[in-house]
Amino acid sequence: MTSTPSKIAITGASGQLGRLVIDALLKTIPASQIVATVRNLEKAQDLVAKGIEVRVADYDRPETLEPAFQGVEKLLLISSSTVGERVPQHQAVIEAARRAGIKLLAYTSLLHADRSPLGLAEEHRHTEAALKESGVPYVLLRNGWYAENYTVSIPVALQHNAFLGSAGEGRISWASRADYAEAAAAALIAEADQAGRVYELAGDQAYTLSELAAEIARQSGQPVVYNDMPEDAYQAVLVGAGLPEGLAAMLADSDIGVSKGGLFGEGGQISALTGHPTISLEKSVAQARKA
Ligand SMILES: NC(=O)c1ccc[n+]([C@@H]2O[C@H](COP(=O)([O-])OP(=O)(O)OC[C@H]3O[C@@H](n4cnc5c(N)ncnc54)[C@H](OP(=O)(O)O)[C@@H]3O)[C@@H](O)[C@H]2O)c1
Repeated sequence: MTSTPSKIAITGASGQLGRLVIDALLKTIPASQIVATVRNLEKAQDLVAKGIEVRVADYDRPETLEPAFQGVEKLLLISSSTVGERVPQHQAVIEAARRAGIKLLAYTSLLHADRSPLGLAEEHRHTEAALKESGVPYVLLRNGWYAENYTVSIPVALQHNAFLGSAGEGRISWASRADYAEAAAAALIAEADQAGRVYELAGDQAYTLSELAAEIARQSGQPVVYNDMPEDAYQAVLVGAGLPEGLAAMLADSDIGVSKGGLFGEGGQISALTGHPTISLEKSVAQARKA
């Protein structure tokens, strides 16, 4: 008798990380074993075209969650993008996963969430505690910063010949979204039991924003320096650039966290999962300039 291959579901599958996780999974398992869960089916038509089953799972509509997880063995909970609302959203997913009998829940937390100085860590700590209480077997994927968080600002930096922030000379062990996605996929398909593991996922190399500015200058041939600012001044600049107050405050607070070493990690755990080094500073900047 042959057994039915186990299914892996990804929440937030219409987002940037979710799509990359699915691409990484497709290199090893067939589309028929993947369930993409999204809050808006219209945004997932390309996934349907890849032969992937798409189901609705909206963190804000708990009634959608348990049905979406039926028949699924492993679930990747990609943390929600609505900062401030994430604890009840994630709790609803965890409760639905418990009811649906999920055998392994992987959660995208934050690097060193248990001791991180970043304000963002609070919701991740609550989610990790909810996982512990739930009884659902889980693995923590504590992600550091995406390189893209910074490289997205390269065009603005080139306009002003300056990269702004409040990160001081804090070292950031960033990796690309694709690196984190591949690491998540590797944990989901690993033969070794992942339950109870805590991965501190950080880039193999750490960089300061001064080093980033120097690399942008080197590759572009234009002068670009890093201007470090007090937290409130940086927040005001971000608001002036059109960011909502809450997001600007969160970004400025995160930079202060960086200045305290909050996004520095030893590295090595992503590359151990993926089998290759994480993205270099040079390649991050080159890729972003090409995009
Ligand atoms: N490590 C880092 O540097 C870093 C940086 C930014 C964010 N993050 C965290 O990592 C997560 C993934 O990053 P990303 O780059 O993929 O972000 P993203 O592109 O913004 O994707 C977020 C995903 O969450 C989904 N989502 C939001 N609210 C939801 C709800 N109520 N129910 C179901 N799905 C919902 C979004 O759905 P829609 O497609 O319908 O909008 C989207 O698919 C983020 O959500 C955030 O928690 C990490």
